[in-house]
Amino acid sequence: MTFEEKYYFLSLSGVYVSSASNEVIETCLGSCVGIALYDSFSHIGGMVHIVLPQGSEEKETNAPTKYAHSGIPYLIKEMLKAGASKERLEATIAGGASIVQDTDINIGQRNITKVKEILKQENIPILKEDIGGNFGRLLRLYIRDGTTEIKFIGYRLREAALAPVSPLKVEEVTLKVLLQKIDQLKPMAKTVNRVLKIIESDPFSVEEIKREIYQDQALTANILKICNSPYYGLAQRVSNLSQGITLLGLNAIKRIIVSLSFKDILAPRINAYSLKQGEFFEHALGCAFIAELIAKEKQYPEPEVVFTAGLLHDIGKIILDQVAADKFHLVMRKVLKEKKSFLEAEKEILGYTHPQVGEMMAQQWYLPGVLREAIAFHHAPHEAQEAPAVVAMVHIADVVCRLAGIGCGVAGLTNPIHPQALNLLNLKALEVDVLIEKIPEIIKQVEAFKVV
Ligand SMILES: [Fe+2]
Ligand SMILES: [Fe+2]
Repeated sequence: MTFEEKYYFLSLSGVYVSSASNEVIETCLGSCVGIALYDSFSHIGGMVHIVLPQGSEEKETNAPTKYAHSGIPYLIKEMLKAGASKERLEATIAGGASIVQDTDINIGQRNITKVKEILKQENIPILKEDIGGNFGRLLRLYIRDGTTEIKFIGYRLREAALAPVSPLKVEEVTLKVLLQKIDQLKPMAKTVNRVLKIIESDPFSVEEIKREIYQDQALTANILKICNSPYYGLAQRVSNLSQGITLLGLNAIKRIIVSLSFKDILAPRINAYSLKQGEFFEHALGCAFIAELIAKEKQYPEPEVVFTAGLLHDIGKIILDQVAADKFHLVMRKVLKEKKSFLEAEKEILGYTHPQVGEMMAQQWYLPGVLREAIAFHHAPHEAQEAPAVVAMVHIADVVCRLAGIGCGVAGLTNPIHPQALNLLNLKALEVDVLIEKIPEIIKQVEAFKVV
């Protein structure tokens, strides 16, 4: 008999209960908390991935598994339905990371406190926990025997960083090598131009967009695939671009075009930052959607531009991964041993940070100032001059994404949120909760891109 393990990945606010001994439930956590429950007599296990401590009555009724307060009782109920006994349930909890210097937002800590309170009320003992700190985690539950595994995201790089070696003198990355690599991405400049034309055109230039896109058959086919993905749930099949624009609206189509145009460059795995295949693209898209959400909320006139800025903010990582992946264990060493932010460590070890390299790329591609600034200052929004509001939106969106564990990577939450960005957008720390609350919906939009 073959025993093939089957992995079930739990997304934000997801819940899953199983009694199949070959199943493994896993989830990635930033400030969220994963709660794994197991009944070792009936071998029934379950997990819930909660995002926030508590919501209003209405919110908890609509989406119980998003909150610790309603999510844990929900999981227990599902497990009892499957045949588990409440008296035998035992818990493992993981996650609840916080941003450094995060005193106001502190979602991680608030989540942990609430989870412990609810488990205590429910009389469920916590057998194992790995919580707090400022790095993302992976939590796994093996249904066969209830074993749980908790690993830091990027644990291999961490191990290499902490290995007792005397590091040789590291050569910094040279400008020449960087520029050479950036030059190899030159064909992107054409794509970028097309994209800029599309996001700048007004609603009356639908024809122009169609003309621009129809030349590219592969792109057209992929746009249609996404229009027909379950996320949009259209009753009829979209078979051409005009129909897509009518049914989904021009802005949705623009977002799809922009995202697909950059997919090839954003989709590969980025080893240096411990981002698996597709994870970097997920982070870019997640950030783009959240930044756009903030833009709409704050009535910023060009949400498409903010979307594109969110999508491109981390492009510098692509080049640093290509030229310096072998030096990142030393970057991580600085982060872990000297408690530096990932950005400071990049600068000290490599000589350049990913925003700096991204800015060089933006210059090579002749990106407009807004996009260039968003890329250059997404970790230092107070330094933006031309478009501080857009930069602040991208900055916050990036942090929210990492808090939610989307593309958290090895840098985790070590790059702090800048209070000036919150001030500039007139965003209260607690409003960050509201953004996080919307992430499960955003993930569904991001998932729609997986059909291509
Ligand atoms: Fe970044
Ligand atoms: Fe980022």
